[in-house]
Amino acid sequence: MQINYNEKNRVFKIDTEHTSYCIGIVDEENFIGHIYYGRKLTEDNLVYLLRTMEAPFVPSQNNRERLSFLDTFPMEYTGHGLGDYREGTLMVRTMGGHTGVSLSYVSHRIYDGKEPLTGLPATFGQQETCKTLEITCEDRVLNLQVILSYSIFAGSDAIARSVKVVNQAAEAVYLTKVLSACIDMDNEDYEMITLHGSWARERTIQTRSVMKGKQGVSSVRGESSHQEHPFMAWKSKNTTEENGDIYAMHFVYSGNFMAQVEVSQFGSMRALMGIHPQDFCWKLEPGDSFQAPEVICVYSAEGIGGMTRTFHDLYRSHLIRGEYRNKKRPILINNWEATYFDFDTEKLLAIAKEASRRGIEMLVMDDGWFGYRNDDNTSLGDWQVNEDKLKGGLKYLVDEVNKLGMKFGIWLEPEMVSPDSDLYRAHPDWAFAIPGRKGSLARNQYVLDLTRQEVRDHIYNMIASVLRSANIEYVKWDMNRQLSDMGSYGLPADRQGELFHRQVLAVYELQDRMTKEFPHLLLENCSGGGARFDPGMLYYGPQIWCSDDTDAVERLSIQAGTAMIYPLSTMGAHVSDCPNHTLGRTTPFETRGYVALAGTFGYELDVTKITEEEQNMIPDQVAMYHKYNDLVREGDYYRIAHYAENHYYDCYEVVAKDKSEALVTYIQVLNRPSFHSRRIRIPGLDKNASYVIENAQEWPEIVQVEYHGDTLQYAGINIPPLKGDFQGRLLHLVKKQ
Ligand code: GLA
Repeated sequence: MQINYNEKNRVFKIDTEHTSYCIGIVDEENFIGHIYYGRKLTEDNLVYLLRTMEAPFVPSQNNRERLSFLDTFPMEYTGHGLGDYREGTLMVRTMGGHTGVSLSYVSHRIYDGKEPLTGLPATFGQQETCKTLEITCEDRVLNLQVILSYSIFAGSDAIARSVKVVNQAAEAVYLTKVLSACIDMDNEDYEMITLHGSWARERTIQTRSVMKGKQGVSSVRGESSHQEHPFMAWKSKNTTEENGDIYAMHFVYSGNFMAQVEVSQFGSMRALMGIHPQDFCWKLEPGDSFQAPEVICVYSAEGIGGMTRTFHDLYRSHLIRGEYRNKKRPILINNWEATYFDFDTEKLLAIAKEASRRGIEMLVMDDGWFGYRNDDNTSLGDWQVNEDKLKGGLKYLVDEVNKLGMKFGIWLEPEMVSPDSDLYRAHPDWAFAIPGRKGSLARNQYVLDLTRQEVRDHIYNMIASVLRSANIEYVKWDMNRQLSDMGSYGLPADRQGELFHRQVLAVYELQDRMTKEFPHLLLENCSGGGARFDPGMLYYGPQIWCSDDTDAVERLSIQAGTAMIYPLSTMGAHVSDCPNHTLGRTTPFETRGYVALAGTFGYELDVTKITEEEQNMIPDQVAMYHKYNDLVREGDYYRIAHYAENHYYDCYEVVAKDKSEALVTYIQVLNRPSFHSRRIRIPGLDKNASYVIENAQEWPEIVQVEYHGDTLQYAGINIPPLKGDFQGRLLHLVKKQ
């Protein structure tokens, strides 16, 4: 890993393990151009790639053509309003009402390490593991300074980028758009990968051709959303899982975003990512700065899988924090699908007793333990224990659960308020509202205006006193509606455009405060399932509830989309009861266990009510989790077959970093008559070693037990049909010494 500046050529060259990223400065106006991003290069004499000698000429040599120059030059970070008609990254409005920005290079700094981004989640690294380039540029008319940051990490091919805007003028300026990263390059007939969904159907992979014009994904819902994900990748048409070029951008942020590629009239392509400019207007006072969140850029020549593993390693080592980062998580049982709101101490203890007998390690009490919350019409904001339900109080329940040798966890939804709550009755102005308009309810609740310090403090004190009152070792932090009616009684008229972003900052501040006061807490974020599954939230808690859909088959596609970027250790996944509560589908208990094993693993059912046969399977599943979780959490993930594409079966693998073992999960979604056994090629193994199927006794269908690594990778093995639909198997390969 290194970062160099060649003064003669005026070129920055950022080298990661296998990639180079080059930026050039041209002309007396010091325009900053994007030269190259791709496989690692030796030389940095690359300015010729910027095509500045092609007509139209560089503006200062021939100012007549300035406009068309600006519209074709591959900008590293763009201005606006002066001739570049492609979608840009930075827009302002001055107090005089004018727009227009043009950025020129001023100076730079290259240093070891990486500075944190004030108030924002971001990747981190030490002086030995990380290097940063900061390029300072300026708009001399506005007196606006823009600092572009690029950080790289030892052994990684990721580049973390962010942007800071500083107002050096004597008067305030409105920032109406501040995106975080831009990559201008030639379109080479790329295909774009994005993730789409809905409630209970998050992060479905979609691939489409990159066409002329603009295309992308976004959210203006105040959260990263169920619907679209702050991620996009573009790849060559022939790129596969294992081979070929792919570029990706992922946003370390949990609110409104835009991610877009635009193919210009000349076939160049501009990829952008950042906070969505809709409803964004930030007043920047003289001397103040605005920090835009981080974008992670990845290029891989080793296909989609290469990109995936780069993200996984980066997030495991440089984003996720806290005690549980590299630790096995306690196997939990959550009472949501078991009881919904209908529970009391007795019921919870009955579940806990039965669960602890089977090896489950933590009881999580979900929604319904506070205020008068017997349904979702009431009490959000009143974080006092309902002692009618929890007879003897919370501490009694927690102590009893602890006596069973289990940990205790609790559900919270701190960002919300029910109109039917003491909090709302006392402070109706603490919810977002536009004066004169009736607020739009969603799940019968409003969103608290956490941009106000007094609201934040009040909510924090309430939830902290709950956490202080008993031995609570886990929090599920939920957020069950999207933002609307964005008006704050706490901010002046000219700052209402800051609300969406300020609310995200406020959530970060609250989680930061909570994890600092309770450093041993395991925090699982959640948002109506997986609407806020993003790298921003991962900075505060190491796992996120993946989806409210716990059906094993649906989960295959939800988890495949999620695992395209996120390590398996982050995906909240549980075995739930059947018929499945969302879909009504019945799948074997074993299969539900195999699918949940690809995530944090836990249960979401009333263990006192399932069949005895199922109860008796739990200890085996618990043993399976303990046997494989280190590998699943820390290993290299490979997608082998995707049922959403082939409609019949799904297969993925995790290989230990030292290639000493691998776990292949095979799920036959639908059985079919009259087909050959399925050929599965198992990548990532040591090609010079032999492997044995350690759990061969679980595979009556497979006759041969020992294979060479290259045989498994290139020739593969044949998986015969399994009897019935929704059948699953694990294949544990262990390297022979
Ligand atoms: C959300 C979560 C669920 C559950 C409910 C409780 O939908 O995703 O897991 O906690 O809220 O209201």
